[in-house]
Amino acid sequence: MYALQSPDLPISAVAPVDCPRKGTAFFPLYDRLANHIPSDQERETAAEFLRQALQDVAQQEDDLPDDPSGLTAWMEANVQKVHGQYQAYLEGRKAGSPRRYFLNRAHALYFLRNVAPTKLVDGSWLYGLCAHAGNSRLSDLVTTYVEELGDGLDDKNHVKLYRALLETYGLDPVGELPDALYQQGLVQLALGWNAQEFLPEIVGFNLAYEQLPLHLLITSYELNELGIDPYYFVLHVTVDNADTGHAKRACVAALDAAPRIDDDGDYWRRVRAGAKLGNLGVSTLDVIDGFDIENEVIAIMARKAPSGNGAHSDFCKVAGRSVNDWLSTPDAMPEFLAALEKSGWIKRNQPASESRFWQLLQGERAEMFGVFSPYELQVIHDWIRGPDSVDGAKFDKDAAPGSQTRQRSFRVEQRLKAARGAAPDRSAAGLDTDLEIFEQRYPSLDPAAKRDLLVQAMSPALHWTPVGLKATRLFLGAP
Ligand SMILES: [Fe+2]
Repeated sequence: MYALQSPDLPISAVAPVDCPRKGTAFFPLYDRLANHIPSDQERETAAEFLRQALQDVAQQEDDLPDDPSGLTAWMEANVQKVHGQYQAYLEGRKAGSPRRYFLNRAHALYFLRNVAPTKLVDGSWLYGLCAHAGNSRLSDLVTTYVEELGDGLDDKNHVKLYRALLETYGLDPVGELPDALYQQGLVQLALGWNAQEFLPEIVGFNLAYEQLPLHLLITSYELNELGIDPYYFVLHVTVDNADTGHAKRACVAALDAAPRIDDDGDYWRRVRAGAKLGNLGVSTLDVIDGFDIENEVIAIMARKAPSGNGAHSDFCKVAGRSVNDWLSTPDAMPEFLAALEKSGWIKRNQPASESRFWQLLQGERAEMFGVFSPYELQVIHDWIRGPDSVDGAKFDKDAAPGSQTRQRSFRVEQRLKAARGAAPDRSAAGLDTDLEIFEQRYPSLDPAAKRDLLVQAMSPALHWTPVGLKATRLFLGAP
């Protein structure tokens, strides 16, 4: 964890990070902006990345009105369209259509994991406005940011909620994801750390990003159906609402920040350019469509191969080759899986418990118990079961042969828990190195330095931690 520095202390020196361009990675700069307080040089690198990104989207069309006065009608038309599409989806489901997004539980968990780089920096594009909270023309943007931070409440902070979601389903730590998945999060962070240069683009990005998308409604519905906590997504359906929520606020903010002095349309052109930055990177639907369960099983096995190679007895042979030998060549996992299937160790399209391979991974006396994460087990489980996995069964509740068990929805499960008197989970807060530094330093600072320290603690790297939550509450005037 990065230790809080007072505004007059120099930022610790780190190796310079390159500006991501075609062929270079997004992750290093994403990491500097998401998990640290970046140096001036890193912020400039992020600004350069944005200038390039704006050029990349320059030729794309946007659907914003030609004049800001059309914003409310534009927002309402979007809501009507999305509601109509969602009603059609619900009617289709009622008539027996399959889920539109998630084939099975593994697919839904894959989605949660792969969108994590964006969700873990939720709201960050507005961070730079905190330092300008005194300017009432920006107050809707500041309010939106603080609401993303859950007003400093432990169980309302959006990033903290997403972290808890990943932890609940064994999806963390989120490492080894394709680099392209960090691009959209990097756009958001780069805006947040460069508000001074990109205010109209931030206004435009916020405008487009805060409008209710259809995928949010369908995702919430299907996660719940699969027994997965949909709260993070449901929260965004309510928070983005067109009446009083972020969608409306984004329109008001765009009007408030617009110059009163004639600028020849420059502000609005830049707002529209910023709105298109949300199109960069891998979209929600791209992530969902990118799921191929066989490829995911192969990737999981290839990741495990180096640590498994040498851990098996040479008597373990599959298709005439020792398991150690198979695992010594991670690229050979498709052939290894085919050999396991051919030799009867894996029986596809049957309950996973029928496969000897699965019995090694899961169960009280499984020899490889604990080797695979809950997510990895779910993927292998659903891959073995094949089409039957549409029932959404959890890997540790393997359905008996021929049974038609249906996954209880998340909400039904919660109601049953409440009826049985189970207490809701509450994570302990309060013990934290940054919080200790903050509490020692904050009372002795003058008002301007206090404000600077609060703003620093509300940065993307810290706002979801104990010190960030406390700073957010102080920022709002709480004692
Ligand atoms: Fe959010």
